[in-house]
Amino acid sequence: MPASSTAPDFTAARARVAQALDALCDRSLPAIGGQVGEAMRYSITGEGKRLRAVLVMLTYEACGGVGDVAPLAAAVEVVHAYSLVHDDLPCMDDDDLRRGRPTVHKAFGVSVATAAGMAMVPLAARAAWDAAIGLGLDVGTTADIVRVLMRASGAGGMIGGQLLDLEGEGQHLSYDQLERIHRCKTGALIEASVEIGARAALAPADTLAALGRYGRCIGLAFQIADDVLDVTATSDELGKTAGKDVAFQKSTYPALLGVDGAIARAESLVQEGCNALAGAGVLTPSLEATARYIVARRS
Ligand code: IPE
Ligand code: IPE
Ligand code: MG
Ligand code: MG
Ligand code: MG
Repeated sequence: MPASSTAPDFTAARARVAQALDALCDRSLPAIGGQVGEAMRYSITGEGKRLRAVLVMLTYEACGGVGDVAPLAAAVEVVHAYSLVHDDLPCMDDDDLRRGRPTVHKAFGVSVATAAGMAMVPLAARAAWDAAIGLGLDVGTTADIVRVLMRASGAGGMIGGQLLDLEGEGQHLSYDQLERIHRCKTGALIEASVEIGARAALAPADTLAALGRYGRCIGLAFQIADDVLDVTATSDELGKTAGKDVAFQKSTYPALLGVDGAIARAESLVQEGCNALAGAGVLTPSLEATARYIVARRS
């Protein structure tokens, strides 16, 4: 597969998400106020790639959705932003730099950062509910969407994977153990983004199944690429500290397979995901380009 580092042009989608995130902050954070509210805004409006939100939007459109899905996409980004706040805490990966700025606990202190992260979970659930209802979806579909988001964030998904990741520090994990961690800590929310976009567009079951496979493949590929970038990119390129995984004795794909082996595994996952969509007739050029960008990206 050709590995182009040309990023798809997400400029317009990112601008819509940024607007929806600003609106959510303006609407919801005054009631929280103080340092915690400020820390939440700092985290939520930080300059991320917005990949999960873009996936919600592209999938929604690929499935024929015509409404303004950006507020729903923004809710997924709030969960992601929270995961970063806690991932960076001293009791987790102990990072000082995120998205080219001091991490939330460096800027606001550990207690405020911890509380801000926690408050972002119910904020995301409420935002997803309001956005799905705002799209005109019925209560059953809206509840399914919120359930998908919360399940992916919880003990069987992101949080569970984060715990396994911490427990695995200093250990030589097997390939299967590492795959499970990556699928949970990162893959689950990416898969959920795709599923949420599809559910919001009322996609039929066979389309949902194909998109689920695509989401699982690119979700794992995304974390493999993150592991690769940790050893091949600079902190300047990443906007976060490079070389953290070796420093914290994390098991990673490059450690298990070598950098080239890890990239090959990620590329084969991307191909598998695109094949699943092609088989179901929903492989849009944007969904393909996004999948390939996940491995080819430099940040
Ligand atoms: C970083 O995610 C954390 C992982 C799950 C690997 P991103 O690389 O998507 O971070 P931002 O949102 O662009 O900052
Ligand atoms: C983080 O994985 C996964 C999350 C759920 C946030 P990493 O710990 O590798 O993410 P980075 O490299 O700090 O962004
Ligand atoms: Mg981590
Ligand atoms: Mg980390
Ligand atoms: Mg990493």
